[in-house]
Amino acid sequence: MVSRFSFLIAAIWMLVGGNAHTVITYPGWRGDNLITNETFPYGMQWMYPCGGMPTTTNRTKWPITGGAIAVQPGWFQGHATAFFYMNLGFGTNGPDGGPPNMSNPMVPVFQIVGPSRNPYPGTFCLPQVPLPANTTVNVGDNATIQVVETAVHGAALFSCVDITFALPEDVAEVNSSNCFNSSTISFNSVFSVAQTATSSATRTLASVSTLSLSALLMWALL
Ligand SMILES: *[C@@H]1O[C@H](CO)[C@@H](O)[C@H](O)[C@H]1NC(C)=O
Ligand SMILES: *[C@@H]1O[C@H](CO)[C@@H](O)[C@H](O)[C@H]1NC(C)=O
Ligand SMILES: *[C@@H]1O[C@H](CO)[C@@H](O)[C@H](O)[C@H]1NC(C)=O
Ligand SMILES: *[C@@H]1O[C@H](CO)[C@@H](O)[C@H](O)[C@H]1NC(C)=O
Ligand SMILES: *[C@@H]1O[C@H](CO)[C@@H](O)[C@H](O)[C@H]1NC(C)=O
Ligand SMILES: *[C@@H]1O[C@H](CO)[C@@H](O)[C@H](O)[C@H]1NC(C)=O
Ligand SMILES: *[C@@H]1O[C@H](CO)[C@@H](O)[C@H](O)[C@H]1NC(C)=O
Repeated sequence: MVSRFSFLIAAIWMLVGGNAHTVITYPGWRGDNLITNETFPYGMQWMYPCGGMPTTTNRTKWPITGGAIAVQPGWFQGHATAFFYMNLGFGTNGPDGGPPNMSNPMVPVFQIVGPSRNPYPGTFCLPQVPLPANTTVNVGDNATIQVVETAVHGAALFSCVDITFALPEDVAEVNSSNCFNSSTISFNSVFSVAQTATSSATRTLASVSTLSLSALLMWALL
């Protein structure tokens, strides 16, 4: 089962000429936790908060004004559709020298629709993910971005990247080679309930313009 699965991934990647073996393709990740044999951290990709990967010191610079996050969602089977959460944890005062918690959502939960329930290639990128509502940071502050992906059956895949906040001009360029949407992946809004607008929802609308208004409003109520 495992070897057939590994073979399938390898075959897909050979077909599309893919080489990057990551979940968070930009701004990077803590390290490879997509292990399908018994080697550490086998099975840990499902563990809160960061899929078994300890806090790293090779932090990526990320803008104090918010920035891009690009993800390869199709590494494991069961992600024909997937819910995504993107959270920020502040500082290094928590367990393992990481943040005390990851309880600060940066975008409302959204859903992607992939081409297949089997593993598939492809990337999506949100070019301007804002800081969590009502938060500000300073140049040099450390934080951790957490991306959570839930499969159709609810299992959640965790991946994190440790960052240091920097001025936008000091951050590596974001362009069509590291931040793009593959045509095989589309987006769905998650909530369809009507709510009353708030100012923080309006502010975020510019950043995440294609996500549904109702999802943003839901988020503003969190
Ligand atoms: C940090 O280092 C690890 C181990 O070499 C590597 O797997 C990971 O991709 C690096 N992360 C970043 C953001 O450079
Ligand atoms: C498990 O897979 C990793 C990554 O593909 C590889 O480096 C390692 O040697 C494998 N371990 C065993 C015991 O097969
Ligand atoms: C941020 O993290 C880096 C690398 O782990 C560390 O050298 C630096 O002292 C940290 N800065 C703060 C303000 O904690
Ligand atoms: C999460 O950590 C922040 C510090 O980064 C703290 O202010 C906040 O109270 C914590 N929230 C919870 C729910 O523990
Ligand atoms: C942000 O601040 C505004 C104004 O104080 C408040 O109404 C709103 O609930 C806050 N949002 C969050 C997510 O804390
Ligand atoms: C995109 O930016 C990266 C640096 O972040 C750079 O290495 C790469 O050459 C750029 N690609 C294009 C097409 O400009
Ligand atoms: C990818 O699609 C999402 C949702 O439609 C959109 O918010 C984002 O801006 C797109 N990314 C790029 C690089 O165009």
